[in-house]
Amino acid sequence: MLRFGTVIPISSYSSITCSCINNHPHHPTSLSTSVSEASLKATMNRLAGVARLMIVSDLDHTMVDHHDLDNLALLRFNALWESNYRNNSLLVFSTGRSPTLYKELRKEKPLLVPDITIMSVGTEITYGNSMIPDDGWIEILNQKWNRNVVSEETKKISELTLQSETEQRPHKVSFYIQKDKAEDIMKVLSTRLEERGLDVKIIYSGGMDLDILPQGAGKGQALAYLLKKFKAEGNLPHSTLVCGDSGNDAELFSIPDVHGVMVSNAQEELLQWHVANAKDNPKIIHATERCAAGIIQAIGYFNLGPSKSPRDVTDLSDSKMEKFDPAYEVVKFYLFYERWRRAEVENSELYFANLKAVCCPSGILVHPSGIEQSLHDCINSLRQCYGDKQGKQFWVWVDQVLFSQLGSDSWLVNFKKWEQSGEERKGCLTTAVLSSKDVTVAKGLTWLHVHQTWLNEAGSSNGISWLF
Ligand code: GLC
Ligand code: MG
Repeated sequence: MLRFGTVIPISSYSSITCSCINNHPHHPTSLSTSVSEASLKATMNRLAGVARLMIVSDLDHTMVDHHDLDNLALLRFNALWESNYRNNSLLVFSTGRSPTLYKELRKEKPLLVPDITIMSVGTEITYGNSMIPDDGWIEILNQKWNRNVVSEETKKISELTLQSETEQRPHKVSFYIQKDKAEDIMKVLSTRLEERGLDVKIIYSGGMDLDILPQGAGKGQALAYLLKKFKAEGNLPHSTLVCGDSGNDAELFSIPDVHGVMVSNAQEELLQWHVANAKDNPKIIHATERCAAGIIQAIGYFNLGPSKSPRDVTDLSDSKMEKFDPAYEVVKFYLFYERWRRAEVENSELYFANLKAVCCPSGILVHPSGIEQSLHDCINSLRQCYGDKQGKQFWVWVDQVLFSQLGSDSWLVNFKKWEQSGEERKGCLTTAVLSSKDVTVAKGLTWLHVHQTWLNEAGSSNGISWLF
């Protein structure tokens, strides 16, 4: 039976199925020389082995809470990911948005850079910072797909309103449809497209969006494709957690062996799908927390690793570390910096002394403007800024915190540091040298050297107010 709000593969009631994927000449394992393959390898090599955790998360209303104007949950997730997972795990965003709208969302919200980006409802897979497309995936999606035929047939249905031009992609045709019309129109449409010889998948999401994709596409199939590649390389992540809120995420939850979280604010269509298809699967939960807070909740519930965000730690100087941890150090430092400027920590001599103590007296900061300053002078300037962002929209977050050990007592840490004041966002690529010489684990690492370079044009326009 056709279910309202779920993925309808035409092949489930038709003889036309796409059975050629596994025998296709462009099967992923035969692509070892392509750019995307090299890019995936680079992503995996960075981990030097198997990822501890791979999170595959939807963005709108899952990672991103559009009702949370202060982005509290997202920033909590970011701090948790960068301090505990970035160095050994994989972050995958899987969104219905096209590359254009994805980039717009990145400007609006403090999103981390994922290792892999899956866009346009699983029809576009890209790797790394430069978003190298996976050409093998494109080949697979060309199977029994003809978007002209889809356009022709959909034009005949007046209930369908075409979405914006940006959302029409090579392997995705998208419409809006009234909720009460969706089920009937989906049936009509699937019959007609089947008659035209196409093997497509029709997905209804968010109580209003209707996407038509090749049968082999979709968020779930894209994840299955990635897992197959990881497996072929002997790099299957230790655990995978999929996170979603709406109809186009349903497929993610049907991939074998993955943990799944439907965030508390999940749409009716996903919850209905769950009841009908996966309610006895103990690896899937419906969180009681919204969006990114629900993701953090699931990490804890399934015991996938640490689930306490540094943002949930009130006294950051109260460290209970077992070993020196450069990533945690960086996250903690900038969290303190944010709290200091927002006057969320006490303006005390003790905190100030602690801050100075973690900076080497002869340490230097190469400011993004090119000017060299002593680290202690920077701390003195910071002191003057206590509470200057109190009650204002001011967020600081670090992204892609990656480190390597230089010697027995020193680490090289690379990360992006972002600062947002109201609408204005500035970022710097930052390289820091941290040392454990003459300090205890409880005291934390010492900052020896920091070097920063502007990441965006906007940053350089107002360089004077940039402290660290
Ligand atoms: C995103 C896309 C839209 C799609 C929807 C559901 O909002 O922009 O094109 O229909 O996700 O998949
Ligand atoms: Mg969503």
